[in-house]
Amino acid sequence: MKIVLLGAPGTGKGTMAFSMSRALSLPHISTGDLFRFNIAEGTELGHRAKQYLDSGKLVPDEITIGMVKERLAEGDCREGFLLDGFPRTVPQAVALDEVLKLESEELDLVLNLQVPEELIFRRITNRLVCSACGKPYNKLDFPPVQEGVCDTCGGPVIQRRDDTAETLRTRLDTYYELTDPLVTYYQEQGILLNHDNSGTHTPDQVDSLITKIKEQIKLNRQSSATAISQE
Ligand code: AP5
Ligand code: MG
Repeated sequence: MKIVLLGAPGTGKGTMAFSMSRALSLPHISTGDLFRFNIAEGTELGHRAKQYLDSGKLVPDEITIGMVKERLAEGDCREGFLLDGFPRTVPQAVALDEVLKLESEELDLVLNLQVPEELIFRRITNRLVCSACGKPYNKLDFPPVQEGVCDTCGGPVIQRRDDTAETLRTRLDTYYELTDPLVTYYQEQGILLNHDNSGTHTPDQVDSLITKIKEQIKLNRQSSATAISQE
């Protein structure tokens, strides 16, 4: 399965991907996490990306597309992947389609997470994250059992540098300008599935969403097989 998680900052892409990647045994590829890893490691890529993450603007397409191409070429992506936060611009979406086409592959589904803006502000300004395994927490709704320590891996639970109200405003405006057009892009490909993610994240909610995703992928594959046989 090749799935993209689309949605504004704070709509729960990382939280959903964390659960879905375990349930579906798919690698979770978060471009935000890849950039943060490179910044923490002090790599050349991290050096080039840092100013964009700190200000809430997008890292230029040529840097981002190159990084994702390298990641998708790794062995664990052969059977599928869960992309979180990529693509985020039309040129990134076109580049992804081209990479897949080279292998006669295509995306199976784009899950578009939707949450009202006031709830996004509440979630992001209270978000915490494990800096070792990436597990997301929330000071109000999902705090770690022991303050500052990840329940899953024991790593340090921290607040992201870009999780301020001011940077979030820039991230949201950037989303509306550059990423929102992808909703139409994937709708036209017939692979978009909208999901209202304002409810609480529970194992039952994830299970029923996964069932829906599998059914939708089956339907998409049937209709594209019918279209090919009619050509
Ligand atoms: P990135 O790391 O992708 O950040 P983002 O898109 O701003 O999204 P977030 O990670 O903030 O939110 P999320 O949707 O993952 O929500 P989460 O699950 O954590 O990107 C950061 C930066 O990197 C960008 O600004 C840009 O500079 C750069 N970048 C990344 N990709 C790029 C690209 N393709 N091109 C160019 N630049 C790129 O949830 C948020 C909070 O809500 C958590 O506290 C969580 O516990 C809580 N929560 C989630 N779901 C629920 C629920 N159902 N109920 C209750 N609480 C919930
Ligand atoms: Mg995230």
